[in-house]
Amino acid sequence: MKSCTSVTVSLALLLGANAHKHGKGGNAPGETLILSDSFNLLDHDLWEHEITAGGAKGGNWEFQYFTNNRTNTFVSGGALHIQPTLTAQLFTEDGVTGVTPATLDLWGSSPADACTSNAFYGCGRSSNAIAHMSLPPVQSASLRTAESFSFRYGRVEVVAKLPRGDWIKPSISLLPARNVYGAWPSSGEITIMQSRGNAPGYAAAGDDAGGGCNVVSSLAHWGPHYSQNKWPLTIGSVAAPAGDTFADDFHTYGLFWDQDILYTYVDDDSNRVMSIAFNESASMWEKGGFEGSGMANPWEGGSAAAPFDQRFYISMSVSVGGVNGYFIDGMEGKPWTDSNGQAAMEFWNATSDWWPTWSDSALQVESVKVWQGDSGSNGGSYAAAGMYYRAAEGVSALGGAPAPSRSSSTPAGPSQASIAMVAGAIGLCVGIVATALARQANTRMLRYQEL
Ligand SMILES: *[C@@H]1O[C@H](CO)[C@@H](O)[C@H](O)[C@H]1NC(C)=O
Ligand SMILES: *[C@@H]1O[C@H](CO)[C@@H](O)[C@H](O)[C@H]1NC(C)=O
Ligand SMILES: *[C@@H]1O[C@H](CO)[C@@H](O)[C@H](O)[C@H]1NC(C)=O
Repeated sequence: MKSCTSVTVSLALLLGANAHKHGKGGNAPGETLILSDSFNLLDHDLWEHEITAGGAKGGNWEFQYFTNNRTNTFVSGGALHIQPTLTAQLFTEDGVTGVTPATLDLWGSSPADACTSNAFYGCGRSSNAIAHMSLPPVQSASLRTAESFSFRYGRVEVVAKLPRGDWIKPSISLLPARNVYGAWPSSGEITIMQSRGNAPGYAAAGDDAGGGCNVVSSLAHWGPHYSQNKWPLTIGSVAAPAGDTFADDFHTYGLFWDQDILYTYVDDDSNRVMSIAFNESASMWEKGGFEGSGMANPWEGGSAAAPFDQRFYISMSVSVGGVNGYFIDGMEGKPWTDSNGQAAMEFWNATSDWWPTWSDSALQVESVKVWQGDSGSNGGSYAAAGMYYRAAEGVSALGGAPAPSRSSSTPAGPSQASIAMVAGAIGLCVGIVATALARQANTRMLRYQEL
């Protein structure tokens, strides 16, 4: 098992070096690479650590706090690792449970260590067993490009290997750089990939396709108010071939986004997960069924793609648990109940059940790339702090500070992946590429929502 894992990883790295392996890979004609990070190092100028106990998504009361600690984020073997660990390592078990009351103080005192969100008591937590207060039992990380890089329209590919471990939830998302249409989810959110670290076979109910680390989902959040979030209309999930998971290998999690369509895919452009077609005569307001609701339309004056017609930034995180129903009460041995106010403690009390499953629990990210059309259909705009344009990443075509907004008149449509060309160029790797493609073709659609 061990040797099998390491072989798969090195094959994936080999393929990764040729970047065209999945999806459209390298620059498609008319596309320019506007962001490329291959994680030769953890670039703190590009990736800001969130520092908060308030959760990946405020209000979900997940069981981790996010911190900037090289135990939780580091580069190894050519991949960024986001590695969740136990808070008890730093605060002791009695500190976490409050048998010995402890305080997690994330306020910080300088710009580099300031708490990034105090929502949901994000900057400080105290434990006290008598008062049934615990510290978040997991220490993890969330990285974002909120102040360094954001873009409107383009193509994203993140090559990653997902964590394995019960109740772990990795996600790769785009969030609005400026809330042009108002507070979440009015200005939208695009989750390119979310998954559960649980074993394959994890069952779920309702709007969820279920699945453990053998299933990945994409979804978009949008609506005029958080109670009117229409994500159930824009979610899709795919499963890995039987016997395989997304935690065994590196896979490409992609997004194509222009003024006419937004879709996500796994590995190959044709292997789509979720898709939204924007349409002048059927705006997102109409698609959401909000007409005649009496609510104010925050997207009034926006394009047919609103709220997905503004700049978004990239966020990657590993969170754990939570009380929003992503893990359903009473199913699959879930050791906590969402509504009783003791979820984190119940989770912690069951450590002996889930901890042994966390042997390969990091989200590993080999590369993050964003392309934009020069004049084609995904010609958009981006803004970046000049710092991250590094020769080390071979992105020499990039100039200094913010690029001018690009016009987007002649839709060219997504161009074809040059997989054949690439396979030829790789030579030695032809067999490997073929195997990889065969695997992709076997990915099974669980749910596909086209809106
Ligand atoms: C980082 O986390 C590790 C593991 O919990 C801990 O041992 C270490 O003290 C932490 N470092 C800082 C500076 O908090
Ligand atoms: C746009 O929406 C209109 C009205 O719902 C529909 O008739 C038309 O087929 C849609 N166009 C596309 C390209 O989907
Ligand atoms: C956790 O375990 C402790 C020790 O057994 C127990 O006193 C406490 O009630 C448990 N807490 C929860 C929320 O289950």
